[in-house]
Amino acid sequence: MAGYVVVGCQWGDEGKGKIVDYLAKKMDQVVRFQGGNNAGHTIVVDGKKIVLHLLPSGILSDKALCIIASGVVIDPFVLIKEMEVLKENDVNVDHLRISDRAHLIMPYHIKLDELQEAKLGGAKIGTTKRGIGPCYADKYTRIGLRVGDLVDFSYFKERLENALKIKNEMLVKLYDEKPFDINELLEQFKKVREVLLPLIINSSEEINMALNTKANVLFEGAQANMLDIDYGSYPYVTSSNPTIGGVISGAAVSPKHIKYVIGVCKAYSTRVGEGPFITELNDENGDIITELGAEYGATTGRKRRCGWLDLVVVKQACQINGLTDIALTKIDILSAFSEIPVCIGYQKDDGEIIKTVPSTIAEYSGLTPVYKYFKGWQKDISDIRNFDDLPIECQEYIRYIEKYTGVQISMVSVGPDREHNIYLHDIVA
Ligand code: GDP
Ligand code: IMO
Ligand code: MG
Repeated sequence: MAGYVVVGCQWGDEGKGKIVDYLAKKMDQVVRFQGGNNAGHTIVVDGKKIVLHLLPSGILSDKALCIIASGVVIDPFVLIKEMEVLKENDVNVDHLRISDRAHLIMPYHIKLDELQEAKLGGAKIGTTKRGIGPCYADKYTRIGLRVGDLVDFSYFKERLENALKIKNEMLVKLYDEKPFDINELLEQFKKVREVLLPLIINSSEEINMALNTKANVLFEGAQANMLDIDYGSYPYVTSSNPTIGGVISGAAVSPKHIKYVIGVCKAYSTRVGEGPFITELNDENGDIITELGAEYGATTGRKRRCGWLDLVVVKQACQINGLTDIALTKIDILSAFSEIPVCIGYQKDDGEIIKTVPSTIAEYSGLTPVYKYFKGWQKDISDIRNFDDLPIECQEYIRYIEKYTGVQISMVSVGPDREHNIYLHDIVA
């Protein structure tokens, strides 16, 4: 009985939703600790696809209490819509709770996200335009509004008045846009308040009580290490820590409770938005991966950029997060190739080979991938359920990832559905 963490090992969209859904059956709580509805976590049940943006992927399991903890930024309109859609699909959402300390994404955050991207022009980040960056910025400049502020609506009004003094001035003077009307916003938030009030809890209290009574608690990461505000390819990152530190601060738990840290790693690489991508394929192979892997963003529908597996990036995820296990996903997509390159280092212009992720964008320039080539297996593997039944070439690919990273692969996913899994080691005791 312990704390489990699921994080992405690359640029997001590794299949975290599917892995959390699998683990949730054995959990008492499933907790989102950072990010917001920039995430898109897909779960496929009997061929039916469900995409979650804010709700923890444990929501489909009635057993686990699902908590959106303090480190998450919540767009209440998206949250309410997501709950409604699930209810229409006969999914029970009564076991959802939200933290009083989580910050609210306000309509002006979304507007400012769009405007800042437009202003940056060619230097844009390629955000999801969900208001994530502006909301986290307000949190840290201390003009944010929190879920708990809704309890006393006159206090909420006071906070909103203060925030609008600054935000409206930015909108009008910097961007030549219309200001937001406080009365309209208050009307909208009166309705939001009705729905959210019964869900509000002190999440750190709830989570710590569970951990102290030996419950199993799963912390579900959104995004991934290369999008981490500190350790990703800054500025082409998101505005939170999707790595292990985000769990400690975003859910208010002690590291002593965390026993297993599971990294979800796609068998190749994808990235949405701008920023460096050393193994990117701008050729027919890239198109094959896009189409076979259905690599279109679950949140914005944008085509994901595709490339070969970059183990330098995955190794960074292992190190930062202290991964105990890897869940390898989408290896079925690689069945199409006769030869599969894997990046094991980066070569500089002067021939030097480096094996760590660059810290600045300038350092990326001139780097080329150093590849180790694997023989493809060119067989459909989606119906295989035992490791030993996989083609030997596929086994070798998997074993090499373990060797390079030094982390055991406990689960291999060979298709989108809940059943498409090969188990190598038990993750939950
Ligand atoms: P997340 O953001 O990490 O939860 O991942 P996304 O849901 O954004 O993207 C992963 C996509 O791959 C989803 O459409 C999943 O249904 C799908 N998927 C997950 N695992 C596998 C797998 O092993 N094989 C295939 N073919 N698809 C998978
Ligand atoms: P999941 O949880 C992939 C990317 C955006 C953009 C950058 C900043 O589904 O893996 P933001 O809107 O966060 O300010 O955008 O981060 N991004 C993601 N890419 N998967 C995600 O989440 C992402 N969340 C944000 O495309 O490049
Ligand atoms: Mg996703």
